[in-house]
Amino acid sequence: MKDTIKDLLEEINSFNTDSSEEVEAFRIKFLGSKGLLKNLFADFKNVAASEKKIIGQALNNLRNTATDKVNVLKNTLESSNLDKSNYGDLTRPAEPLNLGARHPISIVKNKIIDVFSRIGFTVSEGPEIEDDWHNFTALNLPEYHPARDMQDTFFIEKDPDILLRTHTSSVQVRYMENHKPPIRTVSPGRVFRNEDISARAHCIFHQVEGLYIDTDVSFADLKQTLLYFTKEMFGKSKIRLRPSYFPFTEPSAEVDIYWGLETETDYKITKGTGWLEIMGCGMVDPNVLTNANIDPLVYSGFAFGMGIERIAMLLYQIPDIRMFYENDVRFLEQFKSVI
Ligand code: PHE
Repeated sequence: MKDTIKDLLEEINSFNTDSSEEVEAFRIKFLGSKGLLKNLFADFKNVAASEKKIIGQALNNLRNTATDKVNVLKNTLESSNLDKSNYGDLTRPAEPLNLGARHPISIVKNKIIDVFSRIGFTVSEGPEIEDDWHNFTALNLPEYHPARDMQDTFFIEKDPDILLRTHTSSVQVRYMENHKPPIRTVSPGRVFRNEDISARAHCIFHQVEGLYIDTDVSFADLKQTLLYFTKEMFGKSKIRLRPSYFPFTEPSAEVDIYWGLETETDYKITKGTGWLEIMGCGMVDPNVLTNANIDPLVYSGFAFGMGIERIAMLLYQIPDIRMFYENDVRFLEQFKSVI
């Protein structure tokens, strides 16, 4: 028996293969339920008592060597298979790279900024968490104004009031406090209003507001600037200004553009009138200039503000404002732009 064990040990040690079938056959031959080791262990009871110790150790050693051999061969085969699947076929076409697209809100925001920067407007930004002064008081928003109501504004703290800005006019106040006229700046950013979410309204949306302050700025300058904007942005050159009210501008107006009535969608979005409201504007109220340490006897200016979502919905014919925030890749990847 000793000789058999010695021969088998040699056979095991010299065995090598790169085929998994051969490893399996080897395992069955030595370690299988009817394998050689099973038989040897069965014969063990016939071994003379004086030799039992030595032969027993040799048998155990033989079984361990066979088991180790199988494990080592299996591991090597597995890792070389992995290598093959990773690097095997170098002519295989590469995985397609999914390129991202800019968000439609960013595209429209950049377009608006681009149009205004061509006539000398800079871009200014400010904090989304504002104090009462910059969001309301400095802007001539009286204490009884409904915008100050909890219904419309998200307050973070009361007395002193800290809130989520309801418009980016707050940035314009900050800008006036820190810059001397002439001022030409647009302020894009996210704003917050406590509104029910629907297809047309959301509690978080984006605005671009503009401010122009210099000597001798008149309503005619405002109108001409708006006309330039609507031509560049929409390719439309007919606008109308409807008298309106904002606490921070006097006089104030709502800007409508003539969209036309050529298609069914035109009918829908203009409610059959052909006209579409796109922003609010007006001459900066002298109180607002005074609040920002600008002398209203020397300087005058105009301001305007628009919602980016609304304009993006128009340009891309998007029926529901909520689509902007759902991050559905199928929606987002339709917007490719160079800006
Ligand atoms: N701040 C106004 C709003 O949020 C928009 C506006 C800006 C109107 C400047 C007039 C002048 O609706």
